Amino acid sequence: MTEINKLARQLAAEGMVLLKNENQVLPLKDKEKVAVFGRCQLEYYKSGTGSGGAVHVPYTSNVIDGLRQYPNIEINQDLLHTYESWLQDHPFDDGGGGWAAEPWFQEEMPLDDEMVKTAKASSDKALIVIGRTAGEDQDNKAVSGSYYLTDKEQDMIDMVTKHFEQVVVILNVSNILDMDWLNKSYDKPIQGLLYAWHGGMEGGNALADILTGQVNPSGKLTNTIAYKLEDYPSQMNFGSEIENFYEEDIYVGYRYFETFTPEKVMYPFGYGLSYTNFEISLDAFEAKEQNLTFKVAVQNTGHTVGKEVVQLYVKKPQGLLGQPKYALQGFVKTLTLEPGQKHVYEIQVPMNQLASYDDSGVTGHKSSYVLEAGHYDFFIGNSIRNLTLAKSHYMDFKVTERLQEALSPQKSFERVKAVENKDAYEISYEAVPLMSFDMEKRMTALEALKAPSKKFTLKDVEKENCSLDEFVGQLKPEELMTLVKGEGMCSPKVTAGTAAAFGGLSDALAAYDIPVCSCADGPSGIRMDSGKQASQVAIGTAQACSWNLPLIEAVYECIGKELCDHHIDALLGPGMNIHRDPLNGRNFEYFSEDPLMTGQVGLATTLGLKNGGSIATLKHFVANNQEKARHLADSIISERALREIYLKGFEMVVRSGHALSIMTSYNPVNGIYAASNYDLNTTILRDEWGYDGLVMTDWWAKTNHNVHGGTGDTKNKSYMVKAQNDIYMVVNHDNASNHDEDDLLSAYKDGSLSLGELQRSAKNILKVILKSHTYKSGLKHTNKRFFEAKQETLEHAIKTNEYIGSKEFNLYVEEDGVYDVIADSRYLSGPLSQSAYNVKINGEIAFMVQMHGSDEDYMERMTSEVQLEKGYYEIHFEFIRKGIEVRGVTVKKTK
Ligand code: BGC
Repeated sequence: MTEINKLARQLAAEGMVLLKNENQVLPLKDKEKVAVFGRCQLEYYKSGTGSGGAVHVPYTSNVIDGLRQYPNIEINQDLLHTYESWLQDHPFDDGGGGWAAEPWFQEEMPLDDEMVKTAKASSDKALIVIGRTAGEDQDNKAVSGSYYLTDKEQDMIDMVTKHFEQVVVILNVSNILDMDWLNKSYDKPIQGLLYAWHGGMEGGNALADILTGQVNPSGKLTNTIAYKLEDYPSQMNFGSEIENFYEEDIYVGYRYFETFTPEKVMYPFGYGLSYTNFEISLDAFEAKEQNLTFKVAVQNTGHTVGKEVVQLYVKKPQGLLGQPKYALQGFVKTLTLEPGQKHVYEIQVPMNQLASYDDSGVTGHKSSYVLEAGHYDFFIGNSIRNLTLAKSHYMDFKVTERLQEALSPQKSFERVKAVENKDAYEISYEAVPLMSFDMEKRMTALEALKAPSKKFTLKDVEKENCSLDEFVGQLKPEELMTLVKGEGMCSPKVTAGTAAAFGGLSDALAAYDIPVCSCADGPSGIRMDSGKQASQVAIGTAQACSWNLPLIEAVYECIGKELCDHHIDALLGPGMNIHRDPLNGRNFEYFSEDPLMTGQVGLATTLGLKNGGSIATLKHFVANNQEKARHLADSIISERALREIYLKGFEMVVRSGHALSIMTSYNPVNGIYAASNYDLNTTILRDEWGYDGLVMTDWWAKTNHNVHGGTGDTKNKSYMVKAQNDIYMVVNHDNASNHDEDDLLSAYKDGSLSLGELQRSAKNILKVILKSHTYKSGLKHTNKRFFEAKQETLEHAIKTNEYIGSKEFNLYVEEDGVYDVIADSRYLSGPLSQSAYNVKINGEIAFMVQMHGSDEDYMERMTSEVQLEKGYYEIHFEFIRKGIEVRGVTVKKTK
């Protein structure tokens, strides 16, 4: 087993959360016979759908594969065969194979009394596996088959609990589900409940490790599970296609529930069971100027080896700002502790981490982070509901950081504020402070860099023959306009099937020795639509539930190495949006409802990728908290909530992880699209946090006016550059030329976009290129791919410029040159569906042709240039998804 397989299995297992284990129904005991119900025992979901899930894995493991590795556990074979044969007649419904077309659930096999009774007669325990997926472009819905169980799933639970005394439900899900069904009265109560999430390629094996006790569960929830969907405070302001007011403000997840409605919590934040018990106690405490240090002793007081998560929360004085009851301040996952073993762990809390942002000036220090005077009570434990007071520490009022107002809302609304009343908290509302500065004035003009007297290449920058300013100073405006655009998806200039190429995309840029770099989705493995295989690990939520930062770092170091092996420079991940609402379709790619957790896991991912030689891309910056109308819906949020909740994780990774790449989100934030938002990309990210990397848009993102907002458009790329969102992702494969008639040139000519602004983004991009794997390894990712001719003569070869009505043919090229391949193809699917196919030259993937659903019509798809020498070539097409038809091809000389 390779390193990544082993680590992926461990991460998937440590991320599983055991929520119920009555009468020690788990772990399965030696020689026990299990009857496994639910189609997902075989059709295991390794990940959610869309860009975040589309990894071509070398293998996956399902529940049965996993259990078969434990011959001491007997699987009910008759029941398994019944499922196997039923599945043959009821194959997995992929929604037709189109983009985001897969349904969120699969139909369950109906069970009858006789079948379950027979299964019971030869089994000790029942496992019920319920699956759900989700993904990009669509949210989860408050309907059965999405957030709720389907009738057939409920029938399955009813029927199995009628006959079996010992039932464990396993949730192979991307997101939390409604759990109300657990509270129903069954003939025999459900004894075990395990959130197994989507565990990547090793998920089934990891699940078996947990079920059998080979691995003691140590995962803890990174979200609150409430009894009812309506109990989530975001629900009132979720799902609008126009704008969502974040009324709950900083009171997201447990910050809301624990403060105002603890009785509505079914499973609290930080909760998860083990097969053993632990005792957690404070060993020592030290307060220094900048840091509080907690030494916490953890002892395994049970009979099984295992790991525990120590969690540290603060209860701040309410002060004038108002605070949630608890806020997570640190955590540590123990190493494996033997029964009786005790170990002391250290958690450090930097003082400024305890500060809150005053966006109204109520403390007398508007736009500053402040510590309000009073007692800061620190609690330790293994869930937010199992805490003991470790230390009460008094602090005087202090301003920890003076900033300037930024990214504040322009539309008025009321937000929640806590008011402490004896030992309880009440919800009150206050008006959100609105924008009170002039954005036009903030965006000051930039001086252009001077052109040097001689020409330099990028190597000269590396060798310090010239400065980056001099290098960029020589680039012509049109060249800069190419540099600020990436090409994709599936650019032929880089590893086939990746999301984008950027850098030296044109001949002119290549002449400066600027290489072409690439990036690929992300986050849980490398997506190569060419069908090339890569490892896939557990989804983001599962990773976070492990609370095991060194493990996540080690996993991503392996992925970083894999990226380099595939000549890819950056991963499009980690996904760092906050789980604001359980219905967000992409929650599975993200970590938690808590910003500290999000920042810590994002940091571990970023450092891991860096150790592996690669670059992380933090996304989606910021407040991409719903998928519905993700290109339109404005996230309207107070400055305090933005800074303390939605931006905080990004800030942590930028400040401590020296991140190099960030992707903005599709949505507007307080009226201005993220990709053209100056405060987001410049004032906060660069001026405050000191970010020195590049910022890219999400794919085909919209922008609007930096000051006046308004309707979004994909053509307004000048607003993007002005905001210092450096690269537009993505344009077509034609040397990032002005294919879609963007406004860069016209804005430059009319003076609204300055040379200095274009140069500023060029510098940001080139700084990262200089640190990229492609640059450092001297790889020849150029703006053309070169193919050597076959040594032998090929039969029936067709010449260039001829139309070839075939999808597999031999080609004869009469002279060396640059050629275009023009394929006449169609994709029989709806207009929003995406697919692609590979064009192989001499067995090697030359490029991919990207297709949108076209119903009946054939479309000419031109692939950009390949360099061919005189001679013979075998050309054929490879289809990854069904539905694409190629009618014919022409290979034409361009130069
Ligand atoms: C997603 C991004 C992804 C990009 C490239 C977009 O639709 O929102 O997260 O990285 O596509 O696949």
